[in-house]
Amino acid sequence: MDAALAPSLRAALVAAGFTVDGVAEVLGPRAHDALLRNETAPGLARTRGGSPVEVLVRLFLLQTSVPLADAERALPGLVDRLAVAGLLDQSVGEVVARLDCRPYATEEEDLWVVSDLTPGLDGGPQRVGPDHVLGISPASTSLAQLTLREEVGSALDLGTGCGVQALHLARHAGRVVATDVNARALAVARFNAALNEVEVDVRDGSFFAPVRGERFDLVATNPPFVISPGRFGRDERLVYRDSGLPGDEVVEHVVRRAPDHLAPGGWCQVLANWVVERGRSWDDRLAGWLPAEHDALVVQREVLDPAAYVELWLKDAGRHGAPDYLERYDTWLSWFDDQGIEAVGFGWVNLHHTGEAAVRHDLLSWPYDVEQPIAEAVGQWGRAARVADGVGPGDHLVVRPDVVQETHGPVGVADPETIVLRQQRGFRRARTADTVEAALVGACDGDLPLGAILDAVAQLLDADPEQTRATYLPVARDLVAEGFLSPS
Ligand SMILES: C[S@@+](CC[C@H](N)C(=O)[O-])C[C@H]1O[C@@H](n2cnc3c(N)ncnc32)[C@H](O)[C@@H]1O
Repeated sequence: MDAALAPSLRAALVAAGFTVDGVAEVLGPRAHDALLRNETAPGLARTRGGSPVEVLVRLFLLQTSVPLADAERALPGLVDRLAVAGLLDQSVGEVVARLDCRPYATEEEDLWVVSDLTPGLDGGPQRVGPDHVLGISPASTSLAQLTLREEVGSALDLGTGCGVQALHLARHAGRVVATDVNARALAVARFNAALNEVEVDVRDGSFFAPVRGERFDLVATNPPFVISPGRFGRDERLVYRDSGLPGDEVVEHVVRRAPDHLAPGGWCQVLANWVVERGRSWDDRLAGWLPAEHDALVVQREVLDPAAYVELWLKDAGRHGAPDYLERYDTWLSWFDDQGIEAVGFGWVNLHHTGEAAVRHDLLSWPYDVEQPIAEAVGQWGRAARVADGVGPGDHLVVRPDVVQETHGPVGVADPETIVLRQQRGFRRARTADTVEAALVGACDGDLPLGAILDAVAQLLDADPEQTRATYLPVARDLVAEGFLSPS
């Protein structure tokens, strides 16, 4: 792909109004939602007018042929060159897309992303080639929402694919390196960087090999984490999702090796699947991978049943309905069983190189709704983790403004049976509190020091002040670490 084409393609896309908003307007909600379900009929009905934006929607998003004259109007002077570059195919009087090119946006700007065509539109074949370059997937969006967006000197996008994470990183990192092992992905990522007028140093190589000896302020990665036996027949390994390593070794490798590439203060953020072993808690296994000298926040967002997992990924590979579907299903599921894999966890691993001796490892199972983008809450966690353990009786704490108290109990009874403190923002954590804890949090307005609040609560509840301090100082530290309270 010739990156020299990118400026003129960008100019044509801008001139056509081929943006997220422009496409949404042309398609309308019904056709837009249908397309999200891989159905094009409503979209085709809405784009018969021949305007440049309609032509581009038909060509790239609905994957239908357009008359050459329409394509020439939407992409002036570019059709031949885009055909040579492999984005389009021309036949007599007609043009079809060979690659996907779609608008994307951050809160600040319009972007465009080229990738391989989405397979399986309108029930068509789902099968893709082993070097398929995935477009923006739900996993891409999830990682983009997880990634911290503070200004940093350097960032690494490990396993860049079409380069979408690198495009985000380029807006807040002085220097971005993106790596991949798929030559087609490398070419597409380079083209997308040029298309979006950002500089990305795209490098070929496996995992951290292309950045040996280098450290970054931020590493963001959505590695090929599908959990399988890791044995593939010829052309069967789909590089966008299969690492070639068995089980969750790929994620373990990334988590264990990432600290060698983090600058002081740096973060590594990984979107991943992991094995939940029979008879062992999920966090026990994950805790064993975490670096002893870095803070870590691991959030298990989902737990998947092995059978549902195998079905999901066999369908993704277009194997559903194939003659050997049952055999493949059985082999994969039996392997799960042989390995003692009870379930598959999905979630986020965040490592923070604080440079301090005391570290905090929080492993949280939190399948509930969180406020997106969640990145800000991760950053808050990082700051809270640094101060929580040092909280003492002399500290002044304030309750976070979004924390509410819910009480539950029989109607008409004066005292509630349970009190729940619930955050309305960020991770939206909730914790059950007893009377002392609820009174403590209620009194944290930054006025009195923590020790004085605990003494007053003890007096009010007729409890032993020393015992109250001994029991509730650690609770106050947890409340700070979890974001309910913060030093004023
Ligand atoms: C799930 S895709 C993620 C793509 C993109 N970063 C995103 O967020 O959408 C995983 C990417 O890792 C790449 N990959 C596979 N094996 C790799 C390896 N050993 N080292 C580096 N990248 C690899 C794949 O080619 C693919 O582009």
